[in-house]
Amino acid sequence: MKLVMVGSGYVGLVSGVCFADFGFDVTCVDVDESKIARLEAGELPIYEPGLDQLLAENVQAGRLRFSTDLATAAADADAVFIAVGTPSRRGDGEADLTYVFEAARQVARVAKPGTVVVIKSTVVVGTCRKVKEIIATERPGLDFSVASNPEFLREGSAIEDFMRPDRVVIGVHDKRGESALRRAYRPLYLRDSPMVVTTLENAELIKYASNAFLAMKVTFINEVADLCETVGGNVQEVAKAIGLDGRIGSKFLHAGPGFGGSCFPKDTRAFAATGQKHNTPLRLIETVISVNEDRKRRMAEKILEPLGSNPEGKKVAVLGIAFKPNTDDVREAPSLDIVPRLLEAGAIVAAHDPEAREQARPLLNEVTWADDAYDAVKDADVVAILTEWNEYRGLDLKRVAKLMRGNTLVDLRNIYKQEDLEETGLLYISVGRPRAGTPRLHAVSAKTA
Ligand code: UGA
Repeated sequence: MKLVMVGSGYVGLVSGVCFADFGFDVTCVDVDESKIARLEAGELPIYEPGLDQLLAENVQAGRLRFSTDLATAAADADAVFIAVGTPSRRGDGEADLTYVFEAARQVARVAKPGTVVVIKSTVVVGTCRKVKEIIATERPGLDFSVASNPEFLREGSAIEDFMRPDRVVIGVHDKRGESALRRAYRPLYLRDSPMVVTTLENAELIKYASNAFLAMKVTFINEVADLCETVGGNVQEVAKAIGLDGRIGSKFLHAGPGFGGSCFPKDTRAFAATGQKHNTPLRLIETVISVNEDRKRRMAEKILEPLGSNPEGKKVAVLGIAFKPNTDDVREAPSLDIVPRLLEAGAIVAAHDPEAREQARPLLNEVTWADDAYDAVKDADVVAILTEWNEYRGLDLKRVAKLMRGNTLVDLRNIYKQEDLEETGLLYISVGRPRAGTPRLHAVSAKTA
């Protein structure tokens, strides 16, 4: 089976490499010549654990290649996956489908009869039917099928998610689409991964409803964390106990600085916009969006609070800029909202991230970049952990305390426990957990003044 991935971004690249690893003949196409040149040289344009090796193995085996020439690649493909971006449209939050439609037109011009065009990009309900019309108009008489195959990969564990998914969702309008995708995912079927075969519309809705639900779950626990802080509760204990209820489940109940990334913010906006467009407002999701926005602002205040009434000239060390660990992705990362607010308040910011420095540098140009966490915390009045990278979990906190000028650690990911800080002299502020020694915060401003 010959497969083509149109769009070699995150989803297209990971899916293309994994399909090649299943044994299919795969061509990953992109309009970006420099990206294709880098891929041909074995260099990855993104950071994803394990992807470089899997890519090299499959190129070596002759099953995977890269090209900018969509026409040639798609001409003899059995299935063409469209995995191009669907960014938020400015103003209304709706997903911009321009790239999807343009890719469909280009494929239509060259596709062989019987080709299945699979939409993998995250697209609003009704898009696959539109793609079907576009292809039929562009190439009247062509015998083809359209299918929807949304992806549920998480950055940082994308290969594992592809190889061992909770489910594969396939939306189809005919048997040919179904059997092509069943064939493509046969190796997973043999591993007992559930396969949901449904309509095009349901598949499109499943993708948005999944991400919106997860974003809502994170937002829910974040609000519970706020309440825990005011009434003296501990969100981790609450989350653990509610998660033991099988109907709720324990995952995605980690309170933090708010969700970010290339998917949740964009997809919740697009889902809410779809509801508005069809006169069926998704009020819960609209609230999730605004609560999450508000949260990022409040997290900046939480970091500034120990600096007292005048943060001017005080130093904050920010550990973690990527929206989550194991990725260099900073798209809509909470750090991009939080750091500018710290700077606006007059603070000096030194930042460290194990992977995201290059991506973040142009977006945060008033920040000093440190080579490691200890370098960042030197002379800091406050240290703030924004991303739960493994290397921040085992910091030598006594050394951190010694290097700092002040003594407050603001842990927005709850990776430490109060007892870890004993004998370090550090004051610990986390999310949704009791604060030890709150009144001593004033001592910090006295010390740093
Ligand atoms: C998300 C979904 O998890 C994937 O299933 C989906 O395929 C992907 O979007 C997509 O649509 O392409 P991803 O954006 O990689 O994946 O990141 P997640 O691991 O889901 O985290 C999203 C955000 O929620 C991050 O900012 C993370 O820090 C935050 N989060 C997550 C929490 O604050 N608490 C949690 O308990 C879980």
